[in-house]
Amino acid sequence: MSFGSPVGSPFNGPSAASTSAAAGLPFAGMPSELAERAEEVLADEPEHIVAEVPFSAAVFDREPFTLRRFLVGHRLGLLGAVALVIVETLTLQAGPLLTQVGLDRGIAPRNLSVLWWVGTAYLASVVLNAATSAWRVSYTGRLSERLMYELRLRVFSHFQRQSLDFFTEEKAGRLMTRMTSDVDALSALFQDGLVNFAVQGLTLVIITGVLFALNVELALVTLLVVIPSMGVLTIWFRGASERGYGRVRDKIAEVLSDLSESLAGIRVIAATNRQSYNVVQHANIVGEHRNANLYASTVGAVYGPANEAVGVLGQAVLLLVGGRMVIDGSLTVGELFAFLLYLTAFFAPIQQLVQLYTTYQQGQAAVVKLRDLLGTQPSTIEQPDAYELPDITGRIELRNVTFGYDPAYPVLHGLDLVIEPGETVAVVGPTGAGKSTVAKLVTRFYDPNEGSVLIDGHDLRDVTLGSLRRQLGVVPQEPFLFNGTIGENVAFGRPEASPEEIETSCRLVGLGDLIDRLDDGLDSLVHERGSSLSSGERQLLALARAFHARPRVLVLDEATSNLDLRSESVIERALDVVLEGRTAIVIAHRLATAMRADRIAVVDQGRVIELGSHSELLAASGAYARMFETWASHA
Ligand SMILES: Nc1ncnc2c1ncn2[C@@H]1O[C@H](COP(=O)(O)OP(=O)(O)OP(=O)(O)O)[C@@H](O)[C@H]1O
Ligand SMILES: [Mg+2]
Repeated sequence: MSFGSPVGSPFNGPSAASTSAAAGLPFAGMPSELAERAEEVLADEPEHIVAEVPFSAAVFDREPFTLRRFLVGHRLGLLGAVALVIVETLTLQAGPLLTQVGLDRGIAPRNLSVLWWVGTAYLASVVLNAATSAWRVSYTGRLSERLMYELRLRVFSHFQRQSLDFFTEEKAGRLMTRMTSDVDALSALFQDGLVNFAVQGLTLVIITGVLFALNVELALVTLLVVIPSMGVLTIWFRGASERGYGRVRDKIAEVLSDLSESLAGIRVIAATNRQSYNVVQHANIVGEHRNANLYASTVGAVYGPANEAVGVLGQAVLLLVGGRMVIDGSLTVGELFAFLLYLTAFFAPIQQLVQLYTTYQQGQAAVVKLRDLLGTQPSTIEQPDAYELPDITGRIELRNVTFGYDPAYPVLHGLDLVIEPGETVAVVGPTGAGKSTVAKLVTRFYDPNEGSVLIDGHDLRDVTLGSLRRQLGVVPQEPFLFNGTIGENVAFGRPEASPEEIETSCRLVGLGDLIDRLDDGLDSLVHERGSSLSSGERQLLALARAFHARPRVLVLDEATSNLDLRSESVIERALDVVLEGRTAIVIAHRLATAMRADRIAVVDQGRVIELGSHSELLAASGAYARMFETWASHA
């Protein structure tokens, strides 16, 4: 990056210097010695990564997620780690060999200068080992953080890309588990798992090599005593710990799932006095988690000491056999000593490797779960050849649409409906008739099983999702507010809008009173999910958000159901202004809202059973007329 970079350079320092030059200030530019240093700093500066998340053209993770594929992109980094590991292991294992040399060539022949040399070499190897070890730990730490960053972003982007049905079927808590414990399991694997595996494996190889180089016979005897008993122990441990950790993983997912549901539903829980029941339920789940953990740690508790016992046994055998060889003169004291030291060093890696095997297994299980997750294809995907929906006039057509959330049980049966540009059509009908479903199809949250949904003659499946939703405004039946200010929530779809524009949108839907009443006005915080606002206010905010994006088509699902009569009349007037010239689908239980529409569609059991203006439908004295009569007599 050069300093002459134009405005928009992310680095303020240098560009500030050039601005001062432009402003005619005495100091223009940077002294050369400073500039050099600044270049160095910039070269070290980590690149600011802007998440490039593709959403278009059916982009999702097509390749199954595997450990190898994931790591391949980082092979240089991993090679660096391996190089450090080799130096670290070699320097560590030099110790016993130096001891042997010191004993046999220094102490036994009483040669002080050899002893000095050996001592110095020992010291050097220790220092070198400590230094590479520190470097390796921080190096692999950074490498693993990079990997984790990439993975978390990938999983999160994947969630963002999914269709609605995905979130209906998956429990939120389980999805959280993917992001927390599964990603953590992989993190543990990368952090010390893989590298440690290399360290310990290499240690074993080196030690075995040295043992055989020192004395083949003794090496054979020792390994024959040690390896079979360790093998049996290890095979048992592998099976048992696999079972144990499998259970622990399942249980932690249940704990998180129950926890997140209880937190989200706390109001209902409190209102229905279910606290104690919930505590009992959670206690059961947590109890199972504890039992699973206890089992896993019991297995570990048996394995560790048993392993040590085998180690001590090995040393006893070594002392006996090796001691006799020393007496025979076929082995030196120094060699025996080195053997004993190496044997001790032989056990640590085996124990570590077995523990690492657990880490590896957990990581592998996480990989499998992440592969399943990353392999789910959104059900409403863009065609590879999807085109941008041009600016629409807003003619909506549902042509013979059959749709069921489960295709075996259709909710809409061959529904036909045409809405002309600029027309407002109210959709009324009993609960569960399929009104919200119509709204979800028009906004392409789902695709019809049969038939098609068209806007200006374009099948929704042929156009890009982005270009479609830019021209659609939706107020869902349960509006969602984000943690942030009122202004931010309103400007959600068009964050670049000026505060004046945001305020206009708010006042238009009748939020003026609320903004005036709050001390901070538009900057007042709505707490999580808008819990600090009334549900009517939340609806108005959602309306303001939809209006604010100035879409061609508006879909309002019960957008006024929680309002009092006075607010409703404010809204009716606002709707008249906002819907002017726009195509709108207004789903409404309240017939006062419905009767103002150009036409009314009565939906029952997934079909349009009546369609016409308020007066036409009254004259037809069908279902709508009956609904209206009941409603009018209550009002
Ligand atoms: N995500 C879903 N998965 C499965 N079935 C669903 C889902 N959403 C709705 N349904 C079912 O589809 C049918 C139609 O639901 P829809 O939400 O369209 O009704 P509605 O007419 O909007 O009712 P209301 O007036 O109560 O809002 C209902 O029987 C409902 O149980
Ligand atoms: Mg509904």
